[in-house]
Amino acid sequence: MTYENLTISKENGLGWIVVNRPDKLNALNIKTVEEMHSAFLAFKEDMEVKAVILTGSGEKAFIAGADISELAKLDHEAGRQYVLKGQELTKLMENYPKPVIAAVNGYALGGGTEMALACHIRIGTENAKMGQPEVKLGLIPGFGGTQRLSRLVGKGKAMEMILTGKVIDAAEALQIGLLNKVVPPEKLRLTCEALANEMIVNGPLALEYAIGAINKGFDKPMDEALLLEADFFGASCNTEDSKEGTKAFLEKRKPNFQGK
Ligand code: COA
Repeated sequence: MTYENLTISKENGLGWIVVNRPDKLNALNIKTVEEMHSAFLAFKEDMEVKAVILTGSGEKAFIAGADISELAKLDHEAGRQYVLKGQELTKLMENYPKPVIAAVNGYALGGGTEMALACHIRIGTENAKMGQPEVKLGLIPGFGGTQRLSRLVGKGKAMEMILTGKVIDAAEALQIGLLNKVVPPEKLRLTCEALANEMIVNGPLALEYAIGAINKGFDKPMDEALLLEADFFGASCNTEDSKEGTKAFLEKRKPNFQGK
């Protein structure tokens, strides 16, 4: 499939999705949201792709938000439908069976922070700038920001960021846990690849079940969440990969996981 607003590539088991609207600082119009959905679905089915990295083209922006020229035209029902479409994409990313890393290379504002929040891990450059400035437009976050930001950094910090609409720098994003790590721009690609590689040598089904257990258990009471973990653990015991992984350890060799 060819994309108008994305550049897609595949290398050494890693799938790259690059939002490519540099003249608009990679702002997300509906077409881009739809293309991202298709690209994530395609990489999900692609057995050669073991992890996905999302980034923006150029050095200035990851994603500078939803496209404000489209937001300007929405009424109540159109606005609701608009964000439901974005939320479908963020749910697909959050519950993705393979690791998804956001390489935050500059401005990640509004929908940009929300796309990063839907990834499993966020690595930022020193010039990354993050925030939910929707209130400055008289709007609120709608691609999951009111929910995922508070779950990640705590309700107090999320309230502060969303109600002020302020943009924070990479150091502050790191300090509050919005970014996992901050690196110089020239090291972003290598850092993300190294992190992804550290994950994809592990059992693919174990990665999928671990993501499922963390996500599905997160909002549940502890007893329920632990039962869920037990179910996922049981499922992992049933895989050929777990037999191979434990056998390889006992035989003092590297495992050869097949994702079965
Ligand atoms: N939607 C639509 N267009 C956007 C955009 C967005 N979210 N963010 C940037 N752009 C466009 C600008 O309109 C401009 O287009 P133009 O050259 O046709 O006028 C181009 O991208 C470059 O942006 P510009 O504002 O000139 O760059 P800057 O370096 O002066 O400022 C930002 C960068 C990110 C601070 C500024 O673009 C900005 O505040 N963007 C909006 C961020 C936002 O509110 N996002 C949340 C939306 S919900």
